[in-house]
Amino acid sequence: MRKIIDELEKRRERARLGGGKERISRQHAKGKLSARERIELLLDPGTFEEWDMFVEHRCIDFGMDKQTIPGDGVVTGYGTINGRLIFVFSQDFTVFGGSLSESHAAKICKIMDQAMKVGAPVIGLNDSGGARIQEGVSSLSGYAEVFQRNVEASGVIPQISVIMGPCAGGAVYSPAITDFIFMVEDTSYMFVTGPDVVKTVTHEEVTHEDLGGATTHTSKSGVAHDAFANDAEALLYLRRFVDFLPANNREQPPVRPTPDSPERAEMSLDTLVPANANKPYDMKELIEKVVDEGDFFELQPNYAANIIIGFARMEGSTIGIVANQPMVLAGCLDIDSSIKAARFVRFCDAFNIPIITFVDVPGFLPGTAQELGGIIKHGAKLLYAYAESTVPKVTIITRKAYGGAYDVMSSKPLRGDVNFAWPSAEIAVMGPKGAVEIIFRGDLDSEEKIKLRTDEYRERFANPFIAAQRGFIDDVIMPHNTRVRICRSLRMLKNKKIENPWKKHGNIPL
Ligand code: HXC
Repeated sequence: MRKIIDELEKRRERARLGGGKERISRQHAKGKLSARERIELLLDPGTFEEWDMFVEHRCIDFGMDKQTIPGDGVVTGYGTINGRLIFVFSQDFTVFGGSLSESHAAKICKIMDQAMKVGAPVIGLNDSGGARIQEGVSSLSGYAEVFQRNVEASGVIPQISVIMGPCAGGAVYSPAITDFIFMVEDTSYMFVTGPDVVKTVTHEEVTHEDLGGATTHTSKSGVAHDAFANDAEALLYLRRFVDFLPANNREQPPVRPTPDSPERAEMSLDTLVPANANKPYDMKELIEKVVDEGDFFELQPNYAANIIIGFARMEGSTIGIVANQPMVLAGCLDIDSSIKAARFVRFCDAFNIPIITFVDVPGFLPGTAQELGGIIKHGAKLLYAYAESTVPKVTIITRKAYGGAYDVMSSKPLRGDVNFAWPSAEIAVMGPKGAVEIIFRGDLDSEEKIKLRTDEYRERFANPFIAAQRGFIDDVIMPHNTRVRICRSLRMLKNKKIENPWKKHGNIPL
């Protein structure tokens, strides 16, 4: 017995070393932590239960039968984050460059299957040279096994990817299907084809960083949701992030007790909106003043910044926030912001997270780039996402709600449960100036006339009262009461239950 126990310890020791001390040092020299160090930082101390530590690949080609390392390049298992169950896989770059073999894929699939059975999130820490080249199609099939599970798990358990090294080729498509992607600055990159292939095919010269680094994906492509300075920072943020999420689609979002009173009035909001309708203000100030303890976890802050998305809490319960940002493109909706917000709305809806929408939107962004880029189908995504969602929805119009964009932004007919307007709200088909230019086209021969007509129109339509008279707004509220009114609305909506008609699935305009 003693012999077996010694043997077990020896085998464990060997597995823990992965590709060996030298390769671990190389990993550290690049500013990266090892696969196991990452798990230690991510999970509550001492909670990691490792599975498949002794799994090895079965490849015999290219001398691989003489090169086996227990664990085969990925550490898998489960543990807790702030006491809540989480499944995790962490690719080990020191073992065959973290490349994915058939066995490596099977390990990932095993914990995904288990996470689905018990209803807990999966976090993937990606650091891999892609398909294990020596294994060929077995490796490719391994990826497809993972993809299939990613898709089945979508909307059932939260899936989060952290890119902490290379992630290239078809390997990018597993993170792409997961709900959130975070990256580490300077040490991670994602692309379908790397700089060398790009140069051969299109003759473009581009660096790894410009093609697929963290800045590229958090500000230009919108592939990633945020980036962090290093591994440790990314993992600590991830712990904070996971706290917002329910464990699965049958659970309500977690509740964290807060000292912030639901009755808190925020007087400074009464002067947030400038008197001049063309002057911007910072919508983030409003969000931070309304939510519990000013704690707002923004996602994609540097991408399509004309819309703001992220998680916060009201009376301790998670809410999703979608808000137009008047500081960027005057808060217009465009292709990128529509897609960004639509995916977020769908995540919230899938996981029972109420959606609070702050509206100040002058319309869809005009221009050939937008029309030719397909703003029609992309704008429709956001409309579709709001319209199909069944979670509690509270909408606050702070200023402009013009045209189709009014409809899209969780309007009452799109099953907005509670729709409030601030006194500064202007709910109309378009702004007064544009409206007057169309309605009175032949009768605007002097400045005074234009002013007179514009003032007339503003008086009549550019206010919240017509909408309130028709019941499209449930109440006109004082800005300082916004938190109070949202909290009461959410309490009222706590047991909301509506169902969409039975269907296999809808056909969102992709
Ligand atoms: C097997 C691999 C590997 C791979 C790296 N290694 N990638 N082994 N299969 N895909 C091994 C190396 O041989 C080396 O082994 C160790 O990992 C570290 O690699 P280095 O090249 O020394 O590291 P570095 O200089 O940091 O470069 C990392 C890298 C590079 C950029 C990832 O290794 C690379 O370009 N690898 C190949 C990437 C690739 O083409 N993958 C297939 C993509 S297609 P030793 O023993 O020396 O430590 C794909 C399709 C998926 O993934 C399809 C899904 C549908």
